[in-house]
Amino acid sequence: MTHNTSRGNADWWRESVVYQIYVPSFADADGDGMGDLRGVTDRLGHVAELGADAVWLTPFYRSPWADGGYDVSDYRDVDPRHGTLDDFRELLDRAHALGLRVVVDIVPNHCSSEHPWFAEALASPPGSPARDRFVFRDGRGPDGGEPPSDWQSKFGGPAWTRVPDGQWYMHIFAAEQPDLNWENPEVLAEFESILRFWLDLGVDGFRVDVAHGMRKDLTPPLRDTRGSDSAPLNAPPEGHDHPFWDRDEVHDIHRAWRRVLDEYDPPRIAVAEAGVSEARLPLYTRPDELHQAFNFPYLRCPWNAAALRRVVDASLDGARSVGALPTWVLSNHDVVRHLSRYALPEGADTVAWLMSDGREPAADEELGRRRARAAALLTLALPGTTYLYQGEELGLPEVADLPREALRDPMWERTGRARKGRDGCRVPIPWERSGPSYGFGPGGSWLPQPEGWGEYSVEAQTGRPDSFLELYRAALKIRRSFTGDEGFAWLPSREGELAFRKGALECRVNLSGAPLPLPPSAEPLLASGECGGGPAGGVLPPDTAVWLESRPR
Ligand code: NOJ
Repeated sequence: MTHNTSRGNADWWRESVVYQIYVPSFADADGDGMGDLRGVTDRLGHVAELGADAVWLTPFYRSPWADGGYDVSDYRDVDPRHGTLDDFRELLDRAHALGLRVVVDIVPNHCSSEHPWFAEALASPPGSPARDRFVFRDGRGPDGGEPPSDWQSKFGGPAWTRVPDGQWYMHIFAAEQPDLNWENPEVLAEFESILRFWLDLGVDGFRVDVAHGMRKDLTPPLRDTRGSDSAPLNAPPEGHDHPFWDRDEVHDIHRAWRRVLDEYDPPRIAVAEAGVSEARLPLYTRPDELHQAFNFPYLRCPWNAAALRRVVDASLDGARSVGALPTWVLSNHDVVRHLSRYALPEGADTVAWLMSDGREPAADEELGRRRARAAALLTLALPGTTYLYQGEELGLPEVADLPREALRDPMWERTGRARKGRDGCRVPIPWERSGPSYGFGPGGSWLPQPEGWGEYSVEAQTGRPDSFLELYRAALKIRRSFTGDEGFAWLPSREGELAFRKGALECRVNLSGAPLPLPPSAEPLLASGECGGGPAGGVLPPDTAVWLESRPR
């Protein structure tokens, strides 16, 4: 709680640790079972003690909650289920007092179907200015009864919904999330004003939802994509020149936003959620665009030395080509938690695994734990910013067997119950060993927490030297003393081993399946598991990582 993150350091974000708070599931102060801003404020001490530099808060704006708050009906207010604007002001003050920056989510690709603009659009005739803020089109076929194109929603089913007068509107996600028309200057002006609203309140930056989808190719006749889009949420589109993913025109929006961010002192930052190819990702972080982009290629990479080495190189090269540093992400609120991914055989289909309630194939949770601990040291040693997802510091697994009636992700219903969706990584955090919701709040929990969840709690892990939490605390502390030297080099390594140095920090990870010798006289600063050894030198067991103080060789 004492670390120095003076708000005067304008470049704080280049090499930082950002802790993602999924607001509905972090902490619930009022006991209604739903996380809220007062709960976050009360628990921010945990994040500061962990040693993070910033928090990213997922949406807490007014929302009918068709997609967990990513369907915003008022961008300038807090949803009553999460609190009030005053609660937000208090949160901000507390975070800043603890030396934590606050990044908030902005959802510009679509709003809620209950947003006043959409109500106005529905009440207005085809071709009206109110409809032009969205993507309304006539249908195909003799009576216009077919959707205007074959575009598919990310949540399943067509990306078009028909309204009573016969027109259709576009939605990349749920029908309750109509896409905005970013060719309309009113949309641009409105979002600039929304950015300023939060910036003026004092936020330090934005996480930009669907930053690669805001512009569409709407030239008539609309082009079919000829294929269903069943790829994972953040996976890149196939091929180039997709009618709504990763279009060159989105960069004009990012440039305009950068100009707004740079007007503030110190300048504020933005991170792109852009599920695009490795080659295109750096375009989002050019010097006059957004500061960072989530590294989904790294998140998706299997636990495999050659594959990881390739993705690390590509990430560094790509980011450096535009003068940036990469981000490193293992989990977020949209993917199966990485501990569980690493517990499954390589290439396992996680959609099918979830549908089997986590039974098929069987997960080797102990293996997942070892790998997740090693992955933490690997990730935190790389140059750039690491995004942590709440609960990964506790070693939380995916809750794969949530009762079907408890599922809230719109993907579940929209896919005709063929995909369970993302609830299993969103189960509320256990803070205490026992109690009605393991310390999440004084009441219950909007998603059921499994029995034994309390064993993962902050309370249960604090002070236990072999716990996940203490590993993360130690890692963040040591990392801080190596921050600032971005120099990266691979070191000679054995097959199946990753060995590199970032500044004076050396990291070795054993993915080979057999023990490997450690360099003679190496004194580990930190290890993710027990490193045996004898007079002949230390040993790095399989699925283990170690940090050493690097010496010139
Ligand atoms: C990405 C968000 O992370 C996800 O949770 C949401 O469903 C979609 N964007 C749509 O806003």
